[in-house]
Amino acid sequence: MARRKKLYEGKAKVLYEGPEQGTLVQYFKDDATAFNAEKRDVIEGKGVLNNRLSEFFMTGLGQIGVPTHFIKRLNMREQLIKAAEIVPLEVIVRNFAAGSMAKRLGIEEGTRLPRPIVEFSYKDDALGDPLVPEEYIMAFGWATQQELGEIVDTTLRVNDYLSGVMYGVGIKLIDFKIEFGRIYEGDFPRLILADEISPDSCRLWDIETGEKLDKDVFRRDLGNLTDAYTEVARRLGVLPSNVTHANTKPTLIN
Ligand SMILES: Nc1ncnc2c1ncn2[C@@H]1O[C@H](COP(=O)(O)OP(=O)(O)O)[C@@H](O)[C@H]1O
Ligand SMILES: [Mg+2]
Repeated sequence: MARRKKLYEGKAKVLYEGPEQGTLVQYFKDDATAFNAEKRDVIEGKGVLNNRLSEFFMTGLGQIGVPTHFIKRLNMREQLIKAAEIVPLEVIVRNFAAGSMAKRLGIEEGTRLPRPIVEFSYKDDALGDPLVPEEYIMAFGWATQQELGEIVDTTLRVNDYLSGVMYGVGIKLIDFKIEFGRIYEGDFPRLILADEISPDSCRLWDIETGEKLDKDVFRRDLGNLTDAYTEVARRLGVLPSNVTHANTKPTLIN
């Protein structure tokens, strides 16, 4: 088979040309970066876990009627996705204070917020993905007002879904980040959920112990990142088929 053409290499993933018009292959690397890539390492197995976990969440969201870019998983590290025109925003939802918000407002990490808060940063590595007010988004044409409304509505649905799924396995969803893209049906743009949903882009704390099961383990040198992600996958019944564990629940993947 001919080598696929590489279209983009990011910090955590590589995008290749897909087999059909309008598709891409998303490859999950083992690279971990934090603090705008100032801290970096290779974490054996992370890509495999994120590929599976993103498949799991995107599939579940698809089943409750949230349109996503996910088509199918191809192998351990790759998934086939719909090619989208990415809205240059990181859409962040916070249920509990943590990270930059806790710091900015002087709120103790883990404090429940009065309600889920949606915020946006402008996707630009050179600028360090700065937080932007909604007005900038419309003024600079990154999204229309109508799109922004839809982005917020969908993001809150994603939050409810993810919070519930996590709660079911004893995990608190502190916050997460998602991205949206446009696909065109004729001239008509439609928004879909793109990129990935994985412990790289969520904060996940064990409900009982408060143990961190997300990328903060890497950011803050709290232990083995693969072990943390494996624990999330194990609880959700999502595990790479070559990993055998005693006592796992029935697996949800085929
Ligand atoms: N369905 C899609 N179509 C086109 N681009 C996408 C899609 N899903 C994600 N992307 C983009 O692909 C890149 C994924 O690679 P990643 O390593 O996360 O990059 P980055 O370092 O830019 O965050 C991101 O820039 C993301 O916006
Ligand atoms: Mg990214």
